[in-house]
Amino acid sequence: MAYNTQQINQLIQSRRSIFPNQYSGEKVSHEIVEQILENANYAPNHRRTEPWRFMVFTGKALEKLGKVQAELYKTATPPEKFKEKMYQKLQTKPTLASHVITIGMQRNPVVPEIEEIEAVACAVQNMYLTATAYGIGAYWGSGGITYYQEAKELFGLGEKDKLLGFFFLGIPKTTPPPYKRQPITNKVIWADID
Ligand SMILES: Cc1cc2nc3c(=O)[nH]c(=O)nc-3n(C[C@H](O)[C@H](O)[C@H](O)COP(=O)(O)O)c2cc1C
Repeated sequence: MAYNTQQINQLIQSRRSIFPNQYSGEKVSHEIVEQILENANYAPNHRRTEPWRFMVFTGKALEKLGKVQAELYKTATPPEKFKEKMYQKLQTKPTLASHVITIGMQRNPVVPEIEEIEAVACAVQNMYLTATAYGIGAYWGSGGITYYQEAKELFGLGEKDKLLGFFFLGIPKTTPPPYKRQPITNKVIWADID
């Protein structure tokens, strides 16, 4: 056997979302972030479109990201729906992370759009698992300005592309245990006929 399957099973089953308020404030090393991105690049994708696109924010750029997304929220939200608490949260949340990576999908019409989104989600799972293997906290957030049309160009995406969220990275203060899932047997129908 080429791999330690027991370790791989454990890695997959221990992966958790670890949120920015659970990070210590220490930096994740540049080499680990590069490895996380490198492994994203090995996700399955139909017709080899490799649709994942990322923008990496760290250091002072995290403050800039916070300001830019809070301002976009302010300008693009009708006054009656605007919430000051959300504005503040958007401004400060990125600064709790070591790195924030925007999760983008670059559209290629040779395959249906849903397959491009699926391929990006596979890339994000590679990132989650790599982070877990290195003991790094990671979390895919799709709140805030994720689905605002105006957000795309801020992160180098075109009109037909999609912003699918933000991938937060940090050194975890504690690592949450796996949570109990509904059994897989509830979700599978076997159709093996002898
Ligand atoms: C596409 C996607 C979007 C998500 N967006 C959010 C989000 O906006 N806010 C949030 O708290 N969690 C978000 N999550 C993380 C989920 O809350 C988390 O994966 C779920 O609670 C299961 O926990 P686990 O990742 O630790 O297994 C998102 C997860 C996915 C896959």
